[in-house]
Amino acid sequence: MSYKKIYEQSIKDKENFWKKVSDDVFWYQKPEKILNTENPPFYKWFEDGVTNTCYNALDFHVDNGLGDKVALIWDSAITNTKEKYTFNQLKEKVSLFAGALKNQNIQKGDRVIIYMPMIPEAVIAMLACARIGAIHSVVFGGFASNELANRIDDSKAKLIISASCGYEPGKTVEYKPLINKAIELAKHKPDRCIIFQRKNFKATLDPKLDIEWDEVLKDAKPTECEKMKGSDYAYILYTSGTTGLPKGIVRDIGGHIVALKWTMKNVYNINPDDVWWSASDIGWIVGHSYIVYGPLFYGCTTILFEGKPVGTPDAGTFWRIVSEYKVKSLFTAPTAIRAIKKEDPNGEFFKKYDLSNFKCLFLAGERADPDTIKWAEKLLKVPVLDHWWQTETSWAISGNCTGIESFPVKYGSAFKPVPGYNLKILNSEGKELEPGKMGDIVVKLPLPPGTFPTLWNADERYKLNYMTNYPGYYQTYDAGHIDEDGYVWIMSRTDDIINVAGHRLSTGSIEEVLAEHKDVAECAVIGIADKLKGQLPIGLLALKAGVTKDKKEIISECVAMVREKVGPVAAFKTAIVVKRLPKTRSGKVLRGTVRKIADNETYKMPATIDDPAILDEIKKDLIDNNILKL
Ligand code: COA
Ligand code: AMP
Repeated sequence: MSYKKIYEQSIKDKENFWKKVSDDVFWYQKPEKILNTENPPFYKWFEDGVTNTCYNALDFHVDNGLGDKVALIWDSAITNTKEKYTFNQLKEKVSLFAGALKNQNIQKGDRVIIYMPMIPEAVIAMLACARIGAIHSVVFGGFASNELANRIDDSKAKLIISASCGYEPGKTVEYKPLINKAIELAKHKPDRCIIFQRKNFKATLDPKLDIEWDEVLKDAKPTECEKMKGSDYAYILYTSGTTGLPKGIVRDIGGHIVALKWTMKNVYNINPDDVWWSASDIGWIVGHSYIVYGPLFYGCTTILFEGKPVGTPDAGTFWRIVSEYKVKSLFTAPTAIRAIKKEDPNGEFFKKYDLSNFKCLFLAGERADPDTIKWAEKLLKVPVLDHWWQTETSWAISGNCTGIESFPVKYGSAFKPVPGYNLKILNSEGKELEPGKMGDIVVKLPLPPGTFPTLWNADERYKLNYMTNYPGYYQTYDAGHIDEDGYVWIMSRTDDIINVAGHRLSTGSIEEVLAEHKDVAECAVIGIADKLKGQLPIGLLALKAGVTKDKKEIISECVAMVREKVGPVAAFKTAIVVKRLPKTRSGKVLRGTVRKIADNETYKMPATIDDPAILDEIKKDLIDNNILKL
């Protein structure tokens, strides 16, 4: 069937469309109520179905005779380790660890934080939670204690699962001190930490709080899957919000399995015998959906990679993995490709490997710039396809659904709406705009299965934040347009979110930290263009009257504070001290104008600016600090 037909069906006859798709999923009891629309905007998919996430990811394949097939390949380029797990082996490990969780008094519905590097135990921990119906919340290892503490408090996690360390190029990240500090900062205190001790680095444990992974397994018994309702929650994944307080995106169980399994063929054109690789981190949505759940629901082989696109050991690592495991398709962030391009512009490393099985490169997480796409196309000689999605949705909103029908690339566009998403472009009055006109990108409610039914313990915030400005629609906070051919163009965020190396960050949360510095009166953080990371945050600091301390010292203290409170992942390394923040007469900080100046774009002097001279001063500072290169 054509894309057009499938798309139309998914919009006009959504319940039947998804009911049919849901037949592909294992249910202890099939759902009768496909979509509950009684309490908008809180829609529920498959609420009376009974199933289990882990059963669909593992047991289902074992029961269907695929137990000996490789489910997970772990390739740790940074520690030079490789391991393979069949569905049988993974099921065995998961069900045993699930038993261990039960012994630790973890029950259905309890929250468990997973703060781990890219090791198989992280996947085992996620699936074990799913097996017993506990709600996991994976926290990215690059976040600092303060961010971890926010997540502990909001989720009221009973347990933290972590490892002795993570490995970053040139350094060992010790998790235990970060966890200890987070627990100290948090109001809610988890009962226990389970720590996986990695081979070459053992953490010092506190016997009152911590217990080793191997220890909890000793008296554990394999555990069967808990029967869960379709509308129960699988996980919480915190993402940056417009304030420093992260939003707990929740995922319901039934819709999650149905939608992700469907995408593997329809969006990515993967067959069950293929090897699939998503080079992301389990701390991000891409990692949840396409390292762990999507490929395992579908029953194909997935790769878990610990390392970087460059430097572990070189810019050929991605191609080595694609070649070694006969990867059919790779999904990564454009920034990873830019990093490879920078180190290996002529593809010398690439030439060493046989990539004859490689069929497609998918990019997402930030805008894929045409130069990067064209470079990768030329090198790889396969389609390089941008697609657009968010933590909120957990799967692509727009893309080239290669398993249905492929469309030609338009450089800079993220292709067409994926079936299930009724996309519209609205102006600020909520009027639908014609093709080519830029506005807010929204999705007509209800959202398809697998998207977020609410925010953790924050129904009102869900409603207010996402569903109120445009009643009847989900506001994506991305702006762009849809052209005459139905291609979607994502141009910018409409809130304070910036995208640093594919990582979603709120400038507001960095501002909150800077404002705590005793010499800072006011501050603003903006995301400026960066050739490698897409965007980088820079700070404007206005100091309190009478401060005589050396500006350089204040800046380095501010940089250290952001690293300490948000984490190294914020990549906040640059700030300038300004006399005053540039503002309109009504007091609104002119972040957009400063961004344009820093990016050397043309800008109009805002008519309402209170002091035009301040912008010239900032421009001079940006030049002096080598931020603006004319
Ligand atoms: N645990 C602890 N620290 C981490 C971490 C983790 N899991 N991940 C990153 N960090 C740290 C890094 O060590 C670095 O610290 P530093 O300031 O001391 O150097 C900082 O956070 C920034 O890391 P990163 O964003 O990885 O930048 P980088 O300069 O080390 O590497 C790239 C640049 C482009 C190679 C890297 O960003 C990359 O591989 N990006 C792909 C992004 C991606 O997959 N995104 C997922 C969304 S799809
Ligand atoms: P996250 O929730 O971390 O996945 O970040 C989602 C945000 O990343 C989106 O709202 C966009 O702003 C941005 N994003 C993701 N994919 C793309 C893409 N293909 N093109 C442009 N922006 C993207």
